[in-house]
Amino acid sequence: MICLRSRRDLARQRRSRSHACWDHIIAAPLWPQHGANLGTLLRTCDAVGACLAVPHLPWVPEALARGNTLRRPACVHWTGRDACRWLQEQRSAGTRVVGIELADEALRLAELPAARQRTIAVLGHEQTGIPPEAIDLLDVAVEIPMIGTGASLNVAVAGSLVLYRLAGFI
Ligand SMILES: C[S@@+](CC[C@H](N)C(=O)[O-])C[C@H]1O[C@@H](n2cnc3c(N)ncnc32)[C@H](O)[C@@H]1O
Repeated sequence: MICLRSRRDLARQRRSRSHACWDHIIAAPLWPQHGANLGTLLRTCDAVGACLAVPHLPWVPEALARGNTLRRPACVHWTGRDACRWLQEQRSAGTRVVGIELADEALRLAELPAARQRTIAVLGHEQTGIPPEAIDLLDVAVEIPMIGTGASLNVAVAGSLVLYRLAGFI
């Protein structure tokens, strides 16, 4: 028999406070268009113990505040306005950069190993994907297989699946 866990049981198993910044896995929607996707990613980051990296565009702080439905402090890195420059700096400092994108020669999701070193998971713009100048900064690309009629997944769904994989939960 399958018994649903009560809210109380779940609360007992979870942390009472936000995780400290482990700074090991960082979800990076660097060219965001829709605030709702940032909120969804923030929630997945909390679930897997990851941080979020976002550009400091005028509308982003408010979108994060609105999307932070857990109402707890979240680990957010601000990249400045030049996302490629930030990525380049992170890479030079030894961080692995995984691009989440539909791309030739991308790994398929099931082939992506859990993160063994500090890893940034880069997500593309909702319409145009990861720009060409940032593709050159990726160590590897990962694609989530699809067999349906849609060309791509919602960016927050794609990011969430990859974050779970990087965290070693699936
Ligand atoms: C709507 S897609 C962009 C579409 C596409 N790259 C284009 O130029 O038309 C937005 C972002 O979601 C992520 N994404 C969506 N579906 C994906 C998939 N099946 N595999 C990997 N990433 C995906 C990627 O980060 C992509 O840049």
